[in-house]
Amino acid sequence: MKTFAFFNMKGGVGKTTAAVNLAYLAAQEGYRTLLWDLDAQGAATFHFPVTPTVQLKAKNFHKEKERLDRLIKTTDYTNLDLIPSNFKIRHLDVALGNLKKGTKLLSQFIKKLVPRYDYAFFDCPASLSLLAQSVFRASDILIIPMIPTILSVQTYEQMQRYLARHYQQKPQLIGFFSMVDQRKTLHREIIAQQQAKEQVFCQATIPNRSEIEKMGQHRAPLPAFNPNSQATKEFRMLWTEIKRRSDDLTLT
Ligand SMILES: Nc1ncnc2c1ncn2[C@@H]1O[C@H](COP(=O)(O)OP(=O)(O)OP(=O)(O)O)[C@@H](O)[C@H]1O
Ligand SMILES: [Mg+2]
Repeated sequence: MKTFAFFNMKGGVGKTTAAVNLAYLAAQEGYRTLLWDLDAQGAATFHFPVTPTVQLKAKNFHKEKERLDRLIKTTDYTNLDLIPSNFKIRHLDVALGNLKKGTKLLSQFIKKLVPRYDYAFFDCPASLSLLAQSVFRASDILIIPMIPTILSVQTYEQMQRYLARHYQQKPQLIGFFSMVDQRKTLHREIIAQQQAKEQVFCQATIPNRSEIEKMGQHRAPLPAFNPNSQATKEFRMLWTEIKRRSDDLTLT
């Protein structure tokens, strides 16, 4: 099983949108896929009409491992399961801090999932918190969506320095440009510069398109309700590239 965490310290960059769409595309290709919504906002969960039987609790998080089976919900889509979020997990950070070896817990959860899935996708909140540190330990690859602006590049460089200092082997990084406006010279320049400088950035990019925003209205992944749209094609190209790149990486 490979674990991908959709992460960026910056908010509103397209983490959830990519996690939902790429998890759907992986499942559609026949991979057994789990999407775990780790953000108390529950934006990824919102895209799937599921009713949780039990809710993941931040308090006593270490005990949740025992009832992991009951936390996992099947979705309307073949091969795609979901661990839904709920508002209470906003305390997960504090809970992890209070537990002995709290940041190792998520990795232990993940070990239990290995026989069941080919891919696990974490949708993460936008902060470099204890939860993020748990995610870094538990993930093979961080998928970093980035809007091509100067400040985003600066944030990316901060994250990169932090990760290089604290997490040498794992997780590895794959970045992609999100909400791209090709009419903007600055967007085009930043993409060209970063792709030339940093090997981790995908050639596939996701433009800013209004059809993507309709996911909230449909409460579904984009390829599920608009399979032939241009944006769906772009997400398919991104998934193909991420899959290829992740297959080429040596994961420890
Ligand atoms: N390529 C795109 N084109 C147009 N709108 C987009 C695109 N990607 C995402 N959006 C919209 O931008 C908003 C933020 O996207 P999303 O929720 O995926 O970001 P996020 O990084 O997960 O945010 P947060 O940090 O709050 O979790 C949403 O309303 C979404 O529909
Ligand atoms: Mg999000």
